[in-house]
Amino acid sequence: MKKINIRFKVNGRQADLNIAPNKRLLDVLRDDLGLTGTKEGCDIGECGACTVVLNGRAVHSCLILAAQANGAEIITVEGLTQNGELHPLQKNFLEHGAVQCGFCIPGMLLSSYALLKENPHPREDDIKEAIAGNLCRCTGYKQIIQAVEAAANENNE
Ligand code: FES
Ligand code: FES
Repeated sequence: MKKINIRFKVNGRQADLNIAPNKRLLDVLRDDLGLTGTKEGCDIGECGACTVVLNGRAVHSCLILAAQANGAEIITVEGLTQNGELHPLQKNFLEHGAVQCGFCIPGMLLSSYALLKENPHPREDDIKEAIAGNLCRCTGYKQIIQAVEAAANENNE
């Protein structure tokens, strides 16, 4: 299969790639760019483990061809930490006991990040809706919702 050239920005850095046209964004992030914080779960858009932020929207990277991200700006969980400082969402996930096995957490963080960018004052229902596409088999969601609320409150102080 003839390869194609694409470029996009990931976590503020330009990435130039020569890839098979049927390669998924998830595989390019993990295999070509080494950004393994983005997890591979169901591969069919059901679990949300592969969530990244693409042009401001939380998306399932297992359902998107990398070629569709040409010219886009992408944020992965690796991009949330700035200058060695955890993002307020990350700090609050830790402080509220919202992390157990951790597999869902990159996706949860990015869905929450996209929500807070769009709506800095979310209601509980807004948070539930934002993370509706992210499954967690460990926490029962309560601590995750509390962590997102706390991060939003810090933003608004
Ligand atoms: S791996 Fe993409 S939604 Fe499950
Ligand atoms: S913390 Fe284990 S799946 Fe969410």
